[in-house]
Amino acid sequence: MRIAIAGLGYVGLSLACLLSKNSPVEAVDIDAGRVEKINAGISPIADSKIEDCLSGKPHNLHATLDATSAYADSDVVVIATPTNYDDATHSFDTSSIEDVLALISGSGGNPTVVIKSTVPVGYTASISRRFDKLRILFSPEFLREGHALEDNLHPSRIVVGITKPEDEQAAREFARLLDEGSEEKDVPTLVMGSTEAEAIKLFANTYLALRVSFFNELDTYAESKGLSTRQIIEGVCLDPRIGDQYNNPSFGYGGYCLPKDSKQLLSNYADVPQNLIRAIVDSNATRKEFIAERVLARSPRTVGIYRLVMKAGSDNFRQSAMLDVIKLIAARGVEIVIYEPTLTGLEALGHPLVSLAELKERCDLVLANRWNDDLADVREKVYTRDLWQRD
Ligand SMILES: NC(=O)c1ccc[n+]([C@@H]2O[C@H](COP(=O)([O-])OP(=O)(O)OC[C@H]3O[C@@H](n4cnc5c(N)ncnc54)[C@H](O)[C@@H]3O)[C@@H](O)[C@H]2O)c1
Repeated sequence: MRIAIAGLGYVGLSLACLLSKNSPVEAVDIDAGRVEKINAGISPIADSKIEDCLSGKPHNLHATLDATSAYADSDVVVIATPTNYDDATHSFDTSSIEDVLALISGSGGNPTVVIKSTVPVGYTASISRRFDKLRILFSPEFLREGHALEDNLHPSRIVVGITKPEDEQAAREFARLLDEGSEEKDVPTLVMGSTEAEAIKLFANTYLALRVSFFNELDTYAESKGLSTRQIIEGVCLDPRIGDQYNNPSFGYGGYCLPKDSKQLLSNYADVPQNLIRAIVDSNATRKEFIAERVLARSPRTVGIYRLVMKAGSDNFRQSAMLDVIKLIAARGVEIVIYEPTLTGLEALGHPLVSLAELKERCDLVLANRWNDDLADVREKVYTRDLWQRD
């Protein structure tokens, strides 16, 4: 089985490592630097398992900019390109997927196409009508950034969606490829309509956003009333129906997926009654405004930002809650400096980048979405809502 993968980010690269264990993989990107790094055995993203995989220079994995040849010569093309949320159209921008589909159509090959990018509910059925010569499947991806390959080696489930009954065999074959690459036995596998499969992805991420929002609003209440958040959460979560996981307060949910996927689901509800989905989206903005007000209430002269990333071990800060908190505080005239070791320039977001030592020296208040022992000597200056150094 010859496989091509379009888009070598968290999703594409982890799948390239996984699938190349058993099949030759041509890994395609439009970013020449990324392709060069991968072929040199260097991971362009922070993920220890992907780093280990690439440093071993897997003989079955080759990265390329030559998309047309890669797609023409493949039995399966997996699409893992970005789908950013567009606030103007209230929907994901799916143009990168359509660029790949157009290239596949013109390549002369006849591969099964599997969309791994997250898409609006109903997208695969509608795009299959436009590209009616292609067999297009949708398979939601559930990995976490920083643990991308680990999560694909130990998947919670494999879901593949089809648009017509005759594609079931191809769906089962793709599920088998994922299963074969994993280190688990008997991974629960579901084959269903593509629209249900798309809904699974958006409902799963919106549920996670709900859970983060719930414990953040609990924390907003406790902080406003001078109560111990820790005691309340511990008591609430001992109920096994609630569970003691994914309950650590933060400045808001962030990262590439939760903010955009919950907004996309809300958009899919356009003609369907709901209260909760809208509340999950709005709750995050309210939380960040609350955090900013708590910071401003301390009348700081200079606020230091300890990391822009959402969590320890992350190497990017796409849609991180800290970004919005910074905007809200800066709009009120407070000086801001940022410590973010993954950045090397002099400035980030219009604010100076400083060393950790300068951050501690120069600021009267330090914001940390996640606590780190780096900050132990300035503990009294730190504002964080992190209780358990996890999630
Ligand atoms: N990051 C996650 O945790 C995660 C989890 C599940 C699902 N997803 C979904 O998977 C998709 C990809 O996410 P990601 O985080 O891996 O993205 P990413 O931004 O890390 O990587 C995307 C890659 O695609 C490349 N690309 C863009 N257009 C291309 C094209 N036309 N042809 C080939 N390559 C192209 C980019 O250069 C980039 O290297 C998104 O739809 C996302 O919502 C992401």
